[in-house]
Amino acid sequence: MSQQNRLIAGRYELRDQIGAGAMGVVWRAGDLKLERVVAVKELLLPSHFDAQAVQQARRRAQREARIAARLHHPNAITVHDVVEQDGQPWLIMEYLPSQSLAAILAERGPLPVGDAVRIGKHMADALAAAHKASVVHRDVKPGNVLLGAEGTVKITDFGISRALDDTTATATGHYAGTPAFFAPEVARGQEAGYPSDVFSLGATLYNAVEGVPPFGITDNSIAQLYRAAAGTIRPPERAGALTPLLARLLDLDPRARPTMAEAAEALDVLARSTAPTPTLVVDLRDQLTSSFTLPPRSPSHEQRSRRRAAAGLAVALVVLIAVVSGAFYYANVAKRSEASTPPPSSSSSAPPKSTSAKPPVTAPLVVESSGKCLDVPGKATENGTAVTIFDCNGGDNQLWTPTAAGELRVYNGAKCLDARLAGTEPGTSVDIHDCNGGANQKWALNADRSITGKQSGLCLDVLASGTDYGTPVVLWTCAGGTNQRWSHR
Ligand SMILES: Nc1ncnc2c1ncn2[C@@H]1O[C@H](COP(=O)(O)OP(=O)(O)OP(=O)(O)O)[C@@H](O)[C@H]1O
Ligand SMILES: [Mg+2]
Repeated sequence: MSQQNRLIAGRYELRDQIGAGAMGVVWRAGDLKLERVVAVKELLLPSHFDAQAVQQARRRAQREARIAARLHHPNAITVHDVVEQDGQPWLIMEYLPSQSLAAILAERGPLPVGDAVRIGKHMADALAAAHKASVVHRDVKPGNVLLGAEGTVKITDFGISRALDDTTATATGHYAGTPAFFAPEVARGQEAGYPSDVFSLGATLYNAVEGVPPFGITDNSIAQLYRAAAGTIRPPERAGALTPLLARLLDLDPRARPTMAEAAEALDVLARSTAPTPTLVVDLRDQLTSSFTLPPRSPSHEQRSRRRAAAGLAVALVVLIAVVSGAFYYANVAKRSEASTPPPSSSSSAPPKSTSAKPPVTAPLVVESSGKCLDVPGKATENGTAVTIFDCNGGDNQLWTPTAAGELRVYNGAKCLDARLAGTEPGTSVDIHDCNGGANQKWALNADRSITGKQSGLCLDVLASGTDYGTPVVLWTCAGGTNQRWSHR
C-alpha cells in the first residue's frame, strides 16, 4: 500500500519519499499542527529481532531521539519529536532541502580540498557541540552529511545507529552503522565513543578528497569490517594541506586522536589558510523536481476550515483589490478590480509610510503555479524565518505591502522580505528580517508578474516548481515559469 498521505501520530502527513538507508525510509511530510514541512524517518527494526529485541529497540529509539532532541546547533539537523505508529518508532526532524555528501560524491567525484575543509569544519563544530552535550553520533559518514543551498552543512542521524543497534551483535554478526567509516576499534567490537566519531570525521573527509573511504570499499560488509579492524589505510594522494590533519584524525590509536573541539579548531585554521574556493553549489532542483507530483488530497478538517476562512477572505479581498492601486499593482489584477468600493483604511494595519503618491497595497502574493500564498510558516516572527508557500488564509503572515523604498513588508509592516545573508546566488533562500534598508531587502514587482531582487536580479521562485504547501521560496534565475509569476491581489 502506498504510504503517501498517510497520517503519522495524527499530525504528520507523509508527502513524498526523499531517501532510504539501511535503517529507515525518510519522508518529506507536513506537520499539520505547526504548519511546517518536516522530515520523517521511519526506523525499520531488523527483521531478525524477536519480540523482546523489538521492545528494547523501541525504548532505545525513544531514549536516543530524546537525547538528540536536546542538541541544537546550526550544523545539526534538529530532532523535533519521536512518535510511535503501528508499533514502529518514527523520528520527526527538521527538513533541509539538500543533497547528501554521499550523493554529491557519487555524482561529481572527489571534491577540492578547500570544499572538504569547509564542510569538515561545520561537521566538527556540530560534533564538538554534541560531544560537549555527551552525545556520540556513532555513524558519521557522507550519507549523514546534508548539503543545502548557500553552503549549508548539517549532520543528521545523531545516535540513531545506537537506537537500532543489536545488543546481540556478537552472537548474530549484525551491527548498526556503516563499516566503511568505522574506527578500527569499533570494527573490532568496542563501544563507539568520542574518538571513534573523530575517526569517522577523518574517514568522511578522506572520502571527500580521495573519492574512496580510507579502507577502500567492497560490497562484502564482513570483508569491509575486517579491513577496518586491520586498520590498513592507503596514504591519501589528493589531500594537499589537509594530509597531516587527516593522519591525526585517522590515527589507529583512539587516544592519540585529537578531540572533536581540537579537530574543529584545526579545520578552522586550515579553512583560513587554504585559498577560498567558491561555495559548492548544490543543485536542489534535480533533487526535488519529481517530488511534488502528488495526487489531490482529501482535505482534512483543519484544511477545510482553513479553506472556509480563505473563501470568506477571498470576498474581502475582491473588495480590497477593487479599490486600491499603486506602483506595484499588476495590470491583470487591475482589470478585475473595476468595481467601485471605497478604499479600505490601510492605517488599521499600520503599513510603512510610502513616498509614492498612491497608497500602498496590502495583499497576499499568490503564485500562479499553485494558487498558494507567500507565507511566513507557523506565523513565526523571528528574523531569519524562511518563507514558503501555503494555502491562502488571509493571516497577517501572508499580507505583503510593497513600499516606495522597494521593500516588501509583512506583519503589518513590521518585517521585511530579505534575501538571506545578502545572497545573490541562485538557490539563495528568502526569509523575513527587521527592515534595515539593505539592498537585499529591495524588490521590484514587474509587469510580467515576476518579482526580482534588486541586488541579485534573480526571481522570487517556488523551489523546483513545487505546488505543495511548505515548499521553500528561493531566488532563482528568471525563466518566466508559473512558479515565478506572482499576483498581488
Ligand atoms: N532531515 C532531512 N532533510 C532532508 N533530507 C533528508 C533528511 N534526512 C535524510 N534526508 C535524505 O534522505 C536520505 C536518506 O537518509 P537515511 O538516513 O535514511 O540514509 P543513509 O544516511 O544513507 O543511511 P542510514 O540508514 O545508514 O542512515 C539522505 O541521504 C538525505 O538525502
Ligand atoms: Mg542517515
